[in-house]
Amino acid sequence: MEMNIALLPGDGIGPEVIDQAVKVVKAVGKKFGHEFTFNEAVVGATAIDKTGDPYPDATHEICMKSDAVLFGAIGDPKYDNDPKAKVRPEQGLLKMRKNLGLFSNVRPTFTFNSLIHKSPLKKERIEGTDLVFLRELTSGIYFGEPRGRSEQGDKAFDTNIYTKEEISRLARMGFEFAQKRRKLLTCVDKANVLATSRLWRETVQELEPEYPDVKVEYEFVDAVAMRLIQWPKAYDVLITENLFGDILTDEASVISGSMGLMPSASLGTHVKLFEPIHGSYPQAAGKNIANPLATVLSAAMMFEYAFNLPEEAKAISDVVNLSLEKGIVTEDIAEGEKSYSTSEVGDWLAEQISK
Ligand SMILES: NC(=O)c1ccc[n+]([C@@H]2O[C@H](COP(=O)([O-])OP(=O)(O)OC[C@H]3O[C@@H](n4cnc5c(N)ncnc54)[C@H](O)[C@@H]3O)[C@@H](O)[C@H]2O)c1
Repeated sequence: MEMNIALLPGDGIGPEVIDQAVKVVKAVGKKFGHEFTFNEAVVGATAIDKTGDPYPDATHEICMKSDAVLFGAIGDPKYDNDPKAKVRPEQGLLKMRKNLGLFSNVRPTFTFNSLIHKSPLKKERIEGTDLVFLRELTSGIYFGEPRGRSEQGDKAFDTNIYTKEEISRLARMGFEFAQKRRKLLTCVDKANVLATSRLWRETVQELEPEYPDVKVEYEFVDAVAMRLIQWPKAYDVLITENLFGDILTDEASVISGSMGLMPSASLGTHVKLFEPIHGSYPQAAGKNIANPLATVLSAAMMFEYAFNLPEEAKAISDVVNLSLEKGIVTEDIAEGEKSYSTSEVGDWLAEQISK
């Protein structure tokens, strides 16, 4: 197979972790006989510095011409600490998601046997967790208009809007995921308070008869925030709106052990995009200490979801598991034991795949 991959390293640790994923993808290509062309483009603060636009048209064109996009992270403290900045890296992220039609962010949450003892949660509660969030990504309160500040500046407002169409396309994807898994779908909302949540619930209820093999549960977001870390094994596929999903998926990363471990896929109407769930971790930028495994596992998801090559995906997740078992890990996981640099971990993974 020949594939074009758009590489969007972004800011902070983005370029370092993307470099490791590229090493691994190249090793998989060599082993399984695939050819990859990588086309790099700017996004985030790096793009603002170069072009004034956090998601320039040239970057969009490269993404649209590719078979998949591999994305690092965006964000820079110089914008985080300046609430009045007119152009922000995060606008690039939102524009990219919107323009690429990436309406569903798929975030699996699972545990690694070799790391369970390091979790702040009790082993018996989390061992065997295997759930997946589908977070709506291109609508809701992060996009709704009007938004802004009053003229006096003493009031601010955001608007949460969802259409039935936006909810049903995400919900259908959720039903289909559930059909391929344990056939349990949880709709997470706040239907006791919010009109948008009532539309979510109503829309999902209307779809239920089309998927008779899937059991659907409806839970309020506050209850899920609690049950997710108390009984994560109670969940299979969870669907939810943009804001709730943003918060709950970060909470879910605690189950796995580190932000540096969790991959994600963003799926929708055009090209598919793969990215770690963490941000640009600016404190670690350029230090060669960031954990590259979330990005490497995102590349594994790329093989599965974009190229339909599950064997190649498994080859990557197998070497990641091996690195965890053997302790070839960065300092966030090593916790006082011997640790390796970002690039050493990447080299080791690529070498193992090539064996
Ligand atoms: N998708 C994205 O691009 C995205 C997502 C979240 C935050 N951000 C941006 O990233 C910047 C930093 O935000 P933040 O500090 O809230 O989140 P972050 O994910 O960058 O870092 C939070 C903490 O998680 C840990 N961590 C994250 N990635 C890690 C890795 N690869 N290896 C080891 N440890 C890791 C670190 O302890 C870090 O302090 C901000 O500008 C924010 O807007 C971007």
